[in-house]
Amino acid sequence: MSETVSSKVLVLVGSLRAASVNRLLAELAAEVAPEGVILERFDRLGELPFYNEDLDTEDAPEPVVALRAAAAAAGAALVVTPEYNGSVPGVLKNAIDWLSRPYGNSALKDKPAAVIGVALGQYGGVWAHDETRKTLGIAGPRIVDGLELSIPGASLGDKHPRENAEVTERLRDVIGKLVAEIG
Ligand SMILES: Cc1cc2nc3c(=O)[nH]c(=O)nc-3n(C[C@H](O)[C@H](O)[C@H](O)COP(=O)(O)O)c2cc1C
Repeated sequence: MSETVSSKVLVLVGSLRAASVNRLLAELAAEVAPEGVILERFDRLGELPFYNEDLDTEDAPEPVVALRAAAAAAGAALVVTPEYNGSVPGVLKNAIDWLSRPYGNSALKDKPAAVIGVALGQYGGVWAHDETRKTLGIAGPRIVDGLELSIPGASLGDKHPRENAEVTERLRDVIGKLVAEIG
């Protein structure tokens, strides 16, 4: 597959932590993606200012322009996030708010999207993942039914997620089905 919009997936990680387990999961997603598909992580969520309509002009801040360009260049989106206090980490919600504009014309409009992640709690962050699906689905992308993977941190121990065969296979399935939805 040549490097076109249809072969790229924008990846957003909802943790800024240097040792983020969710970033490791995003790395694994890139490893198990179908051949020719590129998963491009946008690692600059911490540089985005808080969403402010006064800043959202033709002269928008450079990190916002870069985020929207990365979204426009992708055929799908994958969010990999922990849960913070039962919900979506603020840094991720902020990125989604930027991506939701221009209203009705998001760079991710109607593109397939999936939300997965790792959290320490026994439910693996399912509340955050459900709420991210809700807000992302309102922002523009089309959330693909049934693509769910909420991993309790304890099931990984101190190891990279790629050392867990079940997680690796479930992730391969999610990425394959997400990519298959790219129009
Ligand atoms: C502010 C904060 C709130 C958290 N709230 C939750 C929570 O509601 N549920 C949960 O399962 N884990 C919660 N955790 C633990 C995270 O799931 C855990 O730190 C996770 O490893 C973070 O992901 P990361 O390794 O990608 O940074 C919270 C952590 C922080 C720092």
